[in-house]
Amino acid sequence: MAEIRRILLIISGGIAAYKALEIIRRGRERGLAFPTILTTGGAQFVTPLSIAALSGEKVYQDLFSLTDESEMGHIRLSREAELVVVAPASADLLAKMAAGMADDLATTALLATDKPVLVAPAMNVMMWRHPATQANIQILRERGVGIIGPVAGDLACGEEGDGRLAEPTDILDAIEQSLPAPDLPLKGKRVVVTSGPTHEAIDPVRYIANRSSGRQGHAIATAFARLGATTILVSGPTNLPDPPGVKVLHVINARQMMGEVLKALPVDVAVCAAAVADWRPAEAQTEKIKKKGSEESRKLDLIANPDILATISRAGPKRPKLVIGFAAETEALEQNALAKLEKKGCDWILANDVSEAAGTFGGEFNKVQLFSHGLTEQWPKLSKIDLGMRLAKRVAATLKDPPAKRAKSA
Ligand code: C5P
Repeated sequence: MAEIRRILLIISGGIAAYKALEIIRRGRERGLAFPTILTTGGAQFVTPLSIAALSGEKVYQDLFSLTDESEMGHIRLSREAELVVVAPASADLLAKMAAGMADDLATTALLATDKPVLVAPAMNVMMWRHPATQANIQILRERGVGIIGPVAGDLACGEEGDGRLAEPTDILDAIEQSLPAPDLPLKGKRVVVTSGPTHEAIDPVRYIANRSSGRQGHAIATAFARLGATTILVSGPTNLPDPPGVKVLHVINARQMMGEVLKALPVDVAVCAAAVADWRPAEAQTEKIKKKGSEESRKLDLIANPDILATISRAGPKRPKLVIGFAAETEALEQNALAKLEKKGCDWILANDVSEAAGTFGGEFNKVQLFSHGLTEQWPKLSKIDLGMRLAKRVAATLKDPPAKRAKSA
């Protein structure tokens, strides 16, 4: 029989709390076990007894319970399961999660966990659409929290619109997809990912940079780590938190990025997702450049930065088995991507449209086309997180069954 997978279920307040019972019931049929935390609000709608009767597990309610703390501290509770699921997630709990509050058992466990988190919001449509809730959801999404629903329909409050808890079967599907892959297909593999922009100093206070947020590169590193790869992320300056389970090396400029990537070799896979500045000031001044009187123009001498992608693609015996680059294009996507594949000497190019209309820079979604030698794949529009996972899975499949081998067996 398949192994039972443990999910820490957090039930917060809201009429949809009763559906958590259905999640437990149907989930157990799928081989999932649900130790549960019931918030004070949640306990207004379902009882610990009905939860325990269905789950066959203990239901935790108090942060400062002497017996629970001696049997199982909240830290252990938050880490013992493979995944933490909040269903239903109230507007209040989402706000607390976004703010990093820890004033009860549920919020403390959510802050202390090192496991992936999935939330299933349910609330009144106006509460869901409120900019405050939307901003909180955005923050959580950026931190890698999975979000399922809400869906549109009749709401318990009598209004209509989006705010209904996603269907229990859909939540269970999302749970299964969010659980770390049991066989960790990239275990034993080593991957280096570059991410973010680079800052090229003009003087101690000024620099040349670009609009890259680093979200795509960070999401790729997260996905590789989740599939079991030893993952090294070499990141330029970003506002993003370090992804869990990833070794992060922070750099400022292209030369430092190149240095850290070369030090990380040998690796099985290199993904160059950073928007490396192509040029840097020929001479970075050690003192702040002063304006001279009525000076109306000034020339800045630029020299080319090293091309990290091209360098590792030609790294001789240390060359990774798979070198992947990005091509940010605003026109003639295919033509430019194919030319880049040749010029850089890499194995795959993920080409994305960064024209303003596509909203890729700093945005949440990305749409790419994968170009390899003799192969083109159009990927659907995906969140940057999902795109990272799709890429990591695609890499895992290719390393297991390289194209030459596949061609022979075809
Ligand atoms: O030449 P272009 O900047 O369009 O190429 C984009 C690809 O090359 C990206 O994968 C980027 O990470 C990589 N690159 C690099 N080092 C550079 C410039 C680009 O690794 N100096």
